[in-house]
Amino acid sequence: MSLEQAREWLQAAGSVVALTGAGISAESGIPTFRGDGGLWQNYRAEDLATPQAFARDPRLVWEWYNWRREIIAQAKPNPGHAALVRLEIAKPRFTLVTQNVDGLHDLAGSGRVLKLHGDIWRMRCTQCGSNWPDRRVPLPKLPPHCACGGLARPGVVWFGEALPEGMMQEAEHAVREAEVFLVVGTSAVVYPAASLIPLARQSGARVVEINVEATPYSEIAHCSLQGPAGEILPQLIP
Ligand code: APR
Repeated sequence: MSLEQAREWLQAAGSVVALTGAGISAESGIPTFRGDGGLWQNYRAEDLATPQAFARDPRLVWEWYNWRREIIAQAKPNPGHAALVRLEIAKPRFTLVTQNVDGLHDLAGSGRVLKLHGDIWRMRCTQCGSNWPDRRVPLPKLPPHCACGGLARPGVVWFGEALPEGMMQEAEHAVREAEVFLVVGTSAVVYPAASLIPLARQSGARVVEINVEATPYSEIAHCSLQGPAGEILPQLIP
């Protein structure tokens, strides 16, 4: 299927869901996790973004997040993020589900963002459980601590941890009602986020994938558009 066909589907749709991954932020200068050239290549997210790694060496894990925060702090939303804001404004029912923790959808102006994997700009206390925003770059002291004296952790979801309460259910509900499901810049290998793609297909939505390379779900997409999200999304959503 062509881009023109996908644009027509989008124009006619009343309810749309978009699932985004690191690829939508790549053109903003934020490296992806698994794509080639990603700076994280020498850091396997699976080795650092885990409760075990944090328990073993909180300082090392915070050095990685502090470094990521410094890179992300210099990043600006790109035309791909802006296109999704236009879509949110144009559609009576629109849900943006992101795996990204960089906050660029918020900066771009997206109003309702389901952050399945949390937010790198928030912290959570491992003692008292309180949760607060902290955008300081770099952080003055690693690892940071809570006012209660407890060790603070990044406000993100690590491998093996539960997603924010009720968020997957909200995303699944929106996907079941979607007429078009955009899946943008994700390798679709991390669950449960990736399960939204077959769910969209089973629920009768038109599945449109935007990625620079094929993914395990390219075959089930009704339309798989190969190219950078920052170029394709503005053509889809002029
Ligand atoms: N436009 C569109 N897609 C792109 C672009 C681009 N400019 N650049 C890269 N991509 C694609 C890559 O081809 C790849 O399929 O983006 C995808 C990035 O995949 P990952 O690096 O695996 O990122 P993501 O899918 O978001 O990872 C999911 O894994 O490490 C965890 O919690 C982390 O949220 C993350 C999750």
